[in-house]
Amino acid sequence: MTAILAIETSCDETAAAVITNGPAIKSNIVASQIDLHAQYGGVFPEVASRAHAESISTVVGQAMTEAELTFDDLDAIAVTQGPGLVGSLLVGINFAKGLALATGLPLLGINHLEGHVYSLWLAPDFVEVEFPVLVVIVSGGHSELVVMRGHGLYQRIGGTIDDAAGEAFDKVGRLLGLPFPGGPAIEGAARTGAIDAYDFPRAKTDGSYDLSFSGLKTAVMRAATVPPSGRRRGKLERRAEKRAPLRDDINVSDVAAAFQDALTDALVTSACRAARDFKVNAVYLSGGVSANQMLREKLSARLRLPVFFPPLFLCTDNAAMIGAAAHFRYQAGHRSPLDFEARASWRLSEDIYAD
Ligand code: KG4
Ligand code: ZN
Repeated sequence: MTAILAIETSCDETAAAVITNGPAIKSNIVASQIDLHAQYGGVFPEVASRAHAESISTVVGQAMTEAELTFDDLDAIAVTQGPGLVGSLLVGINFAKGLALATGLPLLGINHLEGHVYSLWLAPDFVEVEFPVLVVIVSGGHSELVVMRGHGLYQRIGGTIDDAAGEAFDKVGRLLGLPFPGGPAIEGAARTGAIDAYDFPRAKTDGSYDLSFSGLKTAVMRAATVPPSGRRRGKLERRAEKRAPLRDDINVSDVAAAFQDALTDALVTSACRAARDFKVNAVYLSGGVSANQMLREKLSARLRLPVFFPPLFLCTDNAAMIGAAAHFRYQAGHRSPLDFEARASWRLSEDIYAD
């Protein structure tokens, strides 16, 4: 049996997990910082790294206790190397390096996006379909369409050219006065709204598989907020970041429903076209936004291929998914040097283990 301790601190969750063969979850601890960041309406990097530093040793200790293992039982230590907030990544990386040095265990620096991909392998109903498969990663920081041709073999075919899908949810949530993070709040508000109350634009990106959500965000802002008087139009876009007063006649649930409908339509249309063009055998959806029920339903309804989603508790950031990705990297013989550096950006198709 192989047992890997995995650590994740790339954004606003301090997480540790122990993963054994399968891959299977022995423990999975997530300390969320959502309450700390809610007052800023988004993740505040300084606050995030400080909170990681305060809770990392407790979280790792809990993951080991819950797994009922000692460090002698482990085969490797894995940690998210990037992409993410460097100050946050460094807390997890330095902690993992310290552990590796003290125990002599091998260390693996894992790509956070690869973690989201491998969260699928932890789903109870998951069956590995023959490659190639289309991987759709939609989170707060990323929206990527990737053809996966084997374990660790990725071809990025498209992605957002502006806001990530989760970022669009968060920004629209903020302008509608909903709590952070916007994704679950919008999904909740949309339940009692009418999707046809507004006809928001579905971004078209000239035959590519790219996505764009900033036009949609601006359209929502124009429909829902009081127009600025005597200001130039350019400033209107910037107001999406701040709170502008809502129009009196606005029904937040209707706006949320129509926005969610437009965003999921654009995503599903691109994903379906990519799945057809690249003749994939299945579609794997992952990342925080993959928790969205409308997105899951539309994707399953419009594709005649198997579609897989992670269980809800593995959609948003966690260390179990990092451990699952590390499990395959470890089996393939990959190891990271003790002096590896945090990577703020790191495309899945860039294989740093290759040489
Ligand atoms: O994967 P994740 O935890 O963090 C990143 O790696 O970025 O994703 C967080 C994002 C947030 O933007 C949040 O609003 C979104 O996932 N999200 C959702 C839902 N739950 C979380 N978006 C839409 N519907 C949801 N139910
Ligand atoms: Zn993530």
